[in-house]
Amino acid sequence: MGFGRARGLSEPIRERVIAMSKRHQTFVCQNCGAAYGRWQGKCEACGEWNSMVEEGTDTGVGARPAAPGRAPRKGRIVALEALAGEAHEAPRLPSGLPELDRVTGGGLVRGSVLLLGGDPGIGKSTLLIQAAAALARTGHRAVYISGEEAVAQVRMRAERLGLGDAKVELAAETAVEDIIATLSQGKTPRLVVIDSIQTMWTDGVDSAPGTVTQVRGSAQALIRFAKRSGATVILVGHVTKDGQIAGPRVVEHMVDAVLSFEGEGSHQFRILRAVKNRFGPTDEIGVFEMTGLGLREVANPSELFLSERDLGSPGTAVFAGIEGTRPLLVEIQALVAPTSLGTPRRAVVGWDQSRLAMVLAVLEAHCGIRLGGHDVYLNVAGGLRIVEPAADLAAAAALVSSLANSPLPADAVYFGEVSLSGAVRPVAQAAARLKEAQKLGFNRAVMPEAVRDEAQSGLAVTMVGALVNLVGDIAARRNGGREPPRSFDREDG
Ligand code: TYD
Ligand code: MG
Repeated sequence: MGFGRARGLSEPIRERVIAMSKRHQTFVCQNCGAAYGRWQGKCEACGEWNSMVEEGTDTGVGARPAAPGRAPRKGRIVALEALAGEAHEAPRLPSGLPELDRVTGGGLVRGSVLLLGGDPGIGKSTLLIQAAAALARTGHRAVYISGEEAVAQVRMRAERLGLGDAKVELAAETAVEDIIATLSQGKTPRLVVIDSIQTMWTDGVDSAPGTVTQVRGSAQALIRFAKRSGATVILVGHVTKDGQIAGPRVVEHMVDAVLSFEGEGSHQFRILRAVKNRFGPTDEIGVFEMTGLGLREVANPSELFLSERDLGSPGTAVFAGIEGTRPLLVEIQALVAPTSLGTPRRAVVGWDQSRLAMVLAVLEAHCGIRLGGHDVYLNVAGGLRIVEPAADLAAAAALVSSLANSPLPADAVYFGEVSLSGAVRPVAQAAARLKEAQKLGFNRAVMPEAVRDEAQSGLAVTMVGALVNLVGDIAARRNGGREPPRSFDREDG
């Protein structure tokens, strides 16, 4: 709006129009942080509805323009360095929780900032107070700042966890400038936990606490502190499904590593996963068990995930998987039942929906199985989420076993990728999978043909070249080889 248009207006209105046009309004999506000049119902960047909030002129850290009339600052000369040079291995400090170290890639890196995301109540505060206590016990300075709970609450939890004697320094504080001033005093802390970043606010930004701009500004200030001081800072971030609170999404690209703490509410297992990691791999997982005495590290997750097996019931198959560098056996459960609906249900927990659709399509197209009249449910036991394509064969075995009402051998593990042609493709690290299965007392493995050479193990190995062969075997096992169920109208018998 130009000032010229205000010329014909009465004096007070004219002044107001000019003032309005001078004040630059910014609407910031609270979901992804995209900024717009005017309000709109839907964010074009992330597609979220109704997420715009008007924020001050300062749309982000460093966005504040120099005051008009002031001469631009002369730049300071920084020393440039050659790319080739001594590459120091990032100095790491073991946190005292080996499962956390496994996920971060070997420990806490000096001056790095981690974001720990997860649903409310999943155990983020518990994990971090345990990590802080473990570190404090080894003689390092660890500070835990809670913006959500009072010091007494944090202390009470620590006492319940048996960590009352650890020398963790606590504060209930939300003002970032005060926190940084406090941390800058005395010996530099080795670990600073900020629980949570959504509760923090900084003077440098004039938006309301909890907005994306405040979250970003606070994170920026804390990151600057970490880089300057060499302390490792862990920020806790809540993830809400409806994006009501400023999501930590915007913080994700600012930090060095993003960890996500996951688990099904009803299960006691908790999985720590690296979503992003500048200093290590992103495929490692840490496994914890939530007990009455806090989080217990699970050094051998396969044992845990297989501890509640329904031996001898149809529809379950043990998948020999790999998570990062660690083999992991987990039970895949399937239920295939006649549907009462026009469109049969396809529900899956812990696995990819489209992967299930693909396996079902292959079973229909290449194995003569009709599933159009059946509901299909697939579940990965223990609340684990599997992303490996190697789980195809185990999922298919569980599905066919349920449909045929034919239990799979209890001492067998399954792995292999199923291609659209119905062939079973080899997968990486077969030897490690077999070794883990043998260690846990399994006697047989059903796996792709092409990995024959690798399969030097004490297990009896069944090679499957095509999914149709496996279907035939399972159907034949049914009730000692009596007639196959009606859904198996296989042409070749
Ligand atoms: P908390 O760490 O407060 O979760 P977050 O910080 O992610 O919101 O954990 C809360 C849940 O953990 C709560 O439901 C109770 C459970 N819990 C235990 O089962 N045992 C324990 O020893 C503790 C401390 C918590
Ligand atoms: Mg908490």
